[in-house]
Amino acid sequence: MNDKIVPVITIDGPSGAGKGTIAQMLALDLNWNILDSGALYRTLAYFMLEQNIGLHDFEKNKELIKENFRVKFDAGIAGEPVKVIFNDMDITKEVRTEEIAKKTSDLAADPVIRDFIKPCQRDFMKPPGLIADGRDMGTVIFKDARHKIFLTASLQERAKRRQVQLKRQGSEVNMRLLLQELEDRDKKDIERKHSPLKPATNSVIIDTSNLRPEGVIEEIKKNL
Ligand code: C5P
Repeated sequence: MNDKIVPVITIDGPSGAGKGTIAQMLALDLNWNILDSGALYRTLAYFMLEQNIGLHDFEKNKELIKENFRVKFDAGIAGEPVKVIFNDMDITKEVRTEEIAKKTSDLAADPVIRDFIKPCQRDFMKPPGLIADGRDMGTVIFKDARHKIFLTASLQERAKRRQVQLKRQGSEVNMRLLLQELEDRDKKDIERKHSPLKPATNSVIIDTSNLRPEGVIEEIKKNL
């Protein structure tokens, strides 16, 4: 990895903190590549589910998975979800469900899975630059990144945002259930042994609870 050649901005934080929106705005503004690492894990979970491959037989099927795991991202249009293209198919909607999110969180705690995904993530580091969105972008994957941002927001606010997002996709959601699911997922991501969710030591931490996306971008730009 050489950040001297390709500049990287990492954006980490819990679900609903605004990473996706901010990463997309920056990628469109700078015309840089985008890596939605959560969606990469979600795609792997989706593919394994589709192929009926459990975590216990991942190693046995690793080569088959590797050959068929071609993922691209398209920053798309501001305000719409970043597009996830898997083997030339748009699976944006399929991977952004709470069911896949839950499965993904379990899968992502496993070191074998994290090792598999690591080089896939680094492959996205291409000129003119990369905006990398996730949980461990600044702490593990792009340790030498030029700028590291950690976004956070209250649980209530994050659940509200997630509800709006899911509604827009056509899914009705129970707020109490959503709060519980987010809390469980946060706990799992923070407490796991491998690449737990935490701010990188040299990151800029921004609480987005009371900020509009433009305000967050302004804060980030002050620190670039
Ligand atoms: O960001 P998103 O909600 O799409 O991520 C889904 C799940 O993938 C997270 O809850 C987390 O468990 C996992 N993940 C991860 N490391 C990343 C990105 C996502 O473990 N860099």
